[in-house]
Amino acid sequence: MISRRGFLRLVGGSFFSMVSLGAYAVGIEPMLLTHVKRYSLTPPNWPAGLRLRVVALADIHACRPWMTPERIASLAQQANALQPDLIVLLGDYTAGTRLVSDWVDASEWAPALSGLKAPLGVWAILGNHDWWEDLSAQRAGMGPTLARKAIESAGIPVLENDVVRLEKDGHGFWVAGLADQLALRPGKAWGRSRFKGLDDLEGTLAKVSDEAPVILLAHEPDIFPKVPSRISLTLSGHTHGGQVRLFGYSPVVPSRFGNRFAYGHVVEENRNLIVSGGLGFSILPVRFGMRPEILSIELGSA
Ligand SMILES: [Fe+2]
Repeated sequence: MISRRGFLRLVGGSFFSMVSLGAYAVGIEPMLLTHVKRYSLTPPNWPAGLRLRVVALADIHACRPWMTPERIASLAQQANALQPDLIVLLGDYTAGTRLVSDWVDASEWAPALSGLKAPLGVWAILGNHDWWEDLSAQRAGMGPTLARKAIESAGIPVLENDVVRLEKDGHGFWVAGLADQLALRPGKAWGRSRFKGLDDLEGTLAKVSDEAPVILLAHEPDIFPKVPSRISLTLSGHTHGGQVRLFGYSPVVPSRFGNRFAYGHVVEENRNLIVSGGLGFSILPVRFGMRPEILSIELGSA
């Protein structure tokens, strides 16, 4: 099996040697071709009369020159222009590659998100890179991470194994946010031999105190087989659709389920998952066949 890093290096290496293709995959597709990916669905047992537009941003991976605070602020304006009822942020605000001309600190990317506005609010979860780059959180084996504090300072609540009950047109619904499933890296210094997740699905859902529908935010889609049918919709990012996707197939996906949850709308046993291809990239500044996307999801309309 070729690793994600090895594969992206291989692809990146070939692209760098082919200048025009390289310019496309490194410059044009990652930066200029952001588009809105729309979904319409009515999950099982969704209340009649509850129509909800959820806009989601995933895997921003702030860094210069590709994902500057200015670009993040402009993505926030694009998200607002979709007139969502609520906006959710699916984690990985932090850079996931060393191939940057300059690091963009949480004190820069978080304020750029503060322009996001929606009547039912903006709600965030964290991703693995938000944890991995925070060495004191790695050492302590717990948060709050710098990313969390910065997002909260920007006025956006962060849900880590937590829920919030919202209401639209007299119908209640819940947004549940899972803590990251890969939060703690292995490392001798930290006394860990493997990745440790901080996710507590059961504990999170125990906070849901009525029968209203639940939208679950989970950075990595790998939790999906464990998500009960009680959950109307799970929203994830993390995979970037593999970053390189050809004919509906991603050669390398950072998920132990491979292509099963790599990208898009997945329905299994009447349960719904949408995986965003995200906005930024990790390992290498390459995107091919997987344009950066903002999700706009209409619930209760189909
Ligand atoms: Fe991630």
